[in-house]
Formats: sequence, C-alpha cells, structure tokens
Amino acid sequence: MPENDKQSLSMVTCTAPVNIAVIKYWGKRDEDLILPMNSSLSLTLHQDQLKTTTTVACSRNFQQDRIWLNGKEEDISNPRLQSCLQEIRRFSRKRQNTVDSTSDVSGVSHKVHICSVNNFPTAAGLASSASGYAFAIKILFGVESEQLSAVARQGSGSACRSLYGGFVQWKLGEQLDGKDSLAEQVESESYWPELRVLTLVVSAEQKSVGSTSGMHTSVETSQLLKYRADVVVPSRMEEMIRVIRERDFPAFGELTMKDSNQFHAICLDTYPPIFYLNNMSHRIISLVHRYNQYYGETRVAYTFDAGPNAVIYTLQDHLSEFVQVVRHFFPPEVSGEEFFKGLPVCSADLSEELKKDINMEPTPKGIRYIISTKAGPGPCVVKDPNHHLLGADGLPKKSVISD
Ligand code: DP6
Repeated sequence: MPENDKQSLSMVTCTAPVNIAVIKYWGKRDEDLILPMNSSLSLTLHQDQLKTTTTVACSRNFQQDRIWLNGKEEDISNPRLQSCLQEIRRFSRKRQNTVDSTSDVSGVSHKVHICSVNNFPTAAGLASSASGYAFAIKILFGVESEQLSAVARQGSGSACRSLYGGFVQWKLGEQLDGKDSLAEQVESESYWPELRVLTLVVSAEQKSVGSTSGMHTSVETSQLLKYRADVVVPSRMEEMIRVIRERDFPAFGELTMKDSNQFHAICLDTYPPIFYLNNMSHRIISLVHRYNQYYGETRVAYTFDAGPNAVIYTLQDHLSEFVQVVRHFFPPEVSGEEFFKGLPVCSADLSEELKKDINMEPTPKGIRYIISTKAGPGPCVVKDPNHHLLGADGLPKKSVISD
C-alpha cells in the first residue's frame, strides 16, 4: 500500500481513458447494480489526447469523504458516488477477511478525498471519471481486478469499458447479482494500428436529457429497445467482433453507423421522445454518406452518443482527405490548433469533382473544433508523486482549483 506517511496519509494517482461505443449500451435490467439489457463494445481512445487524471487519498485524519471534479468540489452525497464508495469498502473488507488477511487495508475504514481533472473540455461530451477513480481506489485498497467492473459501473455503466485498452466488450452476463456482467478486452490497442478517430465538437450546450434518465424512460416506453436487446444486439456483437478481428473497415464502419442510428431511433421511439442529434449532427451524417457514396465504399463512419457531437472512425489512408472535406463543408471560425487538436494530419487537396459530387451548402462555424486521436491503452498508475493532484494536507493543489 503506497503511503506518504504510514500513520496518516495514503495516496495514489492514475490516468484513465475515454471510450466510444460502436455497439451502444442503452437500458438497464437492474438500476441498483447497473446491469445492462444488452452487451456493448467500444474502442478505448488514446490518453495523449483524452484522459482523466485522478488522485485518491485516504487518511484517518479526514473528517468526511470529499470529491473535486475539474477544479470544483462536488456533492459527495451524490447517490452514484456513494454506491461507488460503498462497493469499494465492501470488496476491500471481504478481501481483508478472506484472501489476504495480513495486508494493510485498514484505510478502508478511513475517509477518502478524490480529485479528478480532464485534459479535454467538458463540451466534448466525453466522460471517463468513474473508471479513473475506480482504478485509483483499486490500487489504494487492493480490490481484485474481477471486481473492478462492478466498482466502475457504479459510477457510470459505460465507464467499466475504460478499464482496458483497445477494443473492449461489456458482457451482458446472466447472473442476477451481476458477477458475470464484466468488461473484457477483445483486442489490444495495437491490433488495428491504421484506425483513426476524430471527435467533431458541434455544441457547447449541456445535454438535454442525461443518459441515466434517458435510458430509464426508454426502458419504460420503447418496444424497439426490447427488440434491439433481445434480437439485434446478440448477433451484432458476434458480427462486430468478427469484423474487428478481420480488420474489415467497410463492414466495421457500416455496423457502427447502423448501431448508432438504431440507438437514436430508440430515443425517438421513447415517449416522450428524446432528441440528442441536432441539425449539425444530421449534416455530418449526410456528409459521411455522400463521401462514402462518391468512392462506392465505406471509408468513413460516424457514431453519436447522448449528445450532438460526432465521433468519426476512419483509416489513416483516408484521414487527411476527410479532414479537408470537413474543413470545406464546415469552414471553421478559428484556425490552427484552436480548430484542429490532437494527432496532426497532413494537408490534402480536394478535387472539384468530389466537392461537386458531395453537393452540400457549406455551413460556416458548424463545427467548433476537432480532436484527432487513435486507439490507446487502459488506465495507468502515475508514479511521480509530483503529479498528485492533492497536496500533503489532502486538499487539491492550487493549480487544480478553478475560480
Ligand atoms: C449513449 O454509462 O452514461 O454513451 O450507466 O446511467 O451512467 P449510466 O449511463 P452511461 O450511458 C452511456 C450511453 C451511451 C452509449 C455507450 O457508451 O455505450
């Protein structure tokens, strides 16, 4: 157990990635245990571009559990946080009583301070903090790896897929207690090195309906959701794993787009309906289809979560041309790194024929900025104590706090 001062303060810092689903999770069969109605599959994105850093400290001197997210203290009584902490304490106590009665997990009865920051704007609509604190807490308290999915799930269901790098599935599982509803790596981040990911950020607005309440209403009212969970997803998961293993981009892209579209169809089938996509999302969808149609094959694919921002999957060979297509049809307000962030791309010339064939009116400032990235590894421990977000007093360092 890493400790600054054996008597009082133990601290761990780790980084965790963001994941983007290509087979979506939407609907819970158990809202307390956070068990899904269908399996899902995602790609973990690279932490050089998108990561959450989390420091967790525990001390017998702390009066209460406290949490700071992106520089602001949040209400620790948030039920999700409470169940996350409860789950950790339950597993750690069990471990203390059974497997390893000699290890020092006394910290489990102490209060914890959690501090977490993203290296990307909240507007990007990409969340990963739950996997970050689950992982840091695992290191601190020695929770078994198999139990980690359950802890991360308590923060946010989809976060359990961020516990691994590369392609990750969250298996539906069959047991009532959720013991077999776990995240599992399908292929590592180096399996498909040509794969590239672009996040097109179209809006700074907060999402209108959160995913938790959105999927609750869908489960209550959408017949399509039941059909998807029972009939569509089981075979789609098998198909998706097969096309990933074969590195078959056209099949991967088509399945990804169809699954995103079905998720948003369920949102429309929900009563009252939920609208996550906006006009700009619809324009991006059209652009992708027109681009693919021009080449007569699926070179680029979109997927959308519970918000209007698009995530684009493509291959390295087509990346620079497609970025140029996006710049042409969504002329940016700002230039350079303010518009294009992350892994650089080469410039490309667009043929007049391609522009004419796509046949869309340009929408100036339609896309605020792009984050360019690729597949990446799972959570990592940060060894250098200088990178702890909490100081020796257990409070966030000055550099972490926002005004
Ligand atoms: C549309 O994981 O945010 O992004 O478990 O209620 O916290 P809760 O939901 P959350 O749902 C994410 C849904 C999604 C699809 C996906 O990532 O699979």
